[in-house]
Amino acid sequence: MNLIIFGPPGAGKGTQSSFLVESKKMFQLSTGDLLREELKSKSKLSEKLKIIMDSGKLVSNDIINNLIEKKIANPLINNNIIFDGFPRNIDQAKSLDKMLSKYQQKISLVLNLKVDNFILVKRISGRVSCSVCKKPFNKFFDPPGDPSECTTKACINRELIKRSDDNESTVSSRLKTYEESTLPLLKYYDSLNVVRNVDAMKSINQVTKQIIDIINDI
Ligand code: AP5
Repeated sequence: MNLIIFGPPGAGKGTQSSFLVESKKMFQLSTGDLLREELKSKSKLSEKLKIIMDSGKLVSNDIINNLIEKKIANPLINNNIIFDGFPRNIDQAKSLDKMLSKYQQKISLVLNLKVDNFILVKRISGRVSCSVCKKPFNKFFDPPGDPSECTTKACINRELIKRSDDNESTVSSRLKTYEESTLPLLKYYDSLNVVRNVDAMKSINQVTKQIIDIINDI
């Protein structure tokens, strides 16, 4: 099954995806992570990407669709993908449908993580992630402990990384972009009858439980 984990910045998409990767052996396809990998290359493209991402706006659909198609074409992850942070507008959703049908696949579930805006700002400003496994932590809600509690043995040498777009001024722009471009996508997926709402204001474990119950119910 392919699913989309949907929600505003800081809703917990990455956090919950990492649980699904572990418990359901799914493959997480995060456009944010793919773009951040590209930033490390220090190419001309990466300079342009950094400016867009630090402003909280969306990177162009062509760049994103190209990144995604390369991954969907991989038979090893066929029909077992969590789309995290993609699609983010109606053009991307329609391109995704086309790409999936080219490889005889579809979206079976959209998990809509619902969180109030005032909580999102705190979640984003407190976020740090493991440099090795990318697992997110939060200095207010889920403080990182000893590295041996992280996901892999290699995490023992981890650094805790803070994203350059995780600051209060960029957050308000990211939330505005989400409300204008991404939220309207819910109507599109509602019409396909694949949306299930998740109360993502609850604790991380309680959110995971809701998600696992939904998936087991399908
Ligand atoms: P992206 O990396 O996708 O960021 P985002 O959508 O803004 O989402 P986040 O990663 O900030 O949040 P999340 O929901 O994953 O939350 P997390 O689990 O980390 O995109 C970054 C940028 O790249 C975009 O602004 C855009 O420029 C560009 N981009 C990416 N995709 C694109 C696309 N498709 N098209 C165009 N441009 C694109 O959790 C957040 C924090 O909260 C963590 O610290 C976590 O520990 C904590 N937390 C999580 N759940 C809970 C809980 N239940 N209770 C308490 N704390 C919690």
